[in-house]
Amino acid sequence: MGSKISIAVLASGRGSNFQAIINGIAKGEVNADIKVLITNNPEAQAIERAKKAKIPIEIIDEKKSGMREQLDLEIKKTLDKYNVDLVVLAGYMKLIKSKELLQAYRNRIINIHPSLLPAFQGLHAQKQAFDYGAKVSGLTIHFLDEQLDHGPIIYQEAVDISDCKDEEEAAEKILNREHKAYKKVIDSFSKGKYVIEGRRAKFVPY
Ligand code: GRF
Repeated sequence: MGSKISIAVLASGRGSNFQAIINGIAKGEVNADIKVLITNNPEAQAIERAKKAKIPIEIIDEKKSGMREQLDLEIKKTLDKYNVDLVVLAGYMKLIKSKELLQAYRNRIINIHPSLLPAFQGLHAQKQAFDYGAKVSGLTIHFLDEQLDHGPIIYQEAVDISDCKDEEEAAEKILNREHKAYKKVIDSFSKGKYVIEGRRAKFVPY
């Protein structure tokens, strides 16, 4: 077994993936420590979840004047302070644009997107899939790069949404699988490393 990794979680809202990671750690399924929750939204439900789990919280409110340009840089400063191995985006709704942040944390920031990329990029991917009439959608976990929902792919999973009666049901079905998949992928970082081969991130065990 590899050594425990330390992670920072970035979330903007509900935080159900964040909660799944907290629960996974408590159950011994995820070999990690959450050093900090960073949020851009002072109203995020994720904050309550962090409080309950006694995880330090850093709120970087981009609505405060002049902050938007500064947001990524403030995030970088905060990440540097907590000295984490991995940065986990879990419903973080801002595009990370800063070259400084992206370069400093290259292949150490992961994101989960609720579709099989490159299909249905951007917001409301589950609604996009449902409205398109897709019978199969899914989830993608990838490293972050300069483009939206684009970086090297770590993991993908298909989800059958053909019987879902509306977009909410499709989103719920996908979300359930997201929780399980994200826990497994985060845990894998304690057991090996990912080597980038073209568009793919290939797992190499320790
Ligand atoms: C998830 O569907 C995730 O794939 C997407 O944003 C949503 C976040 O949900 N990036 P939650 O905040 O984890 O409940």
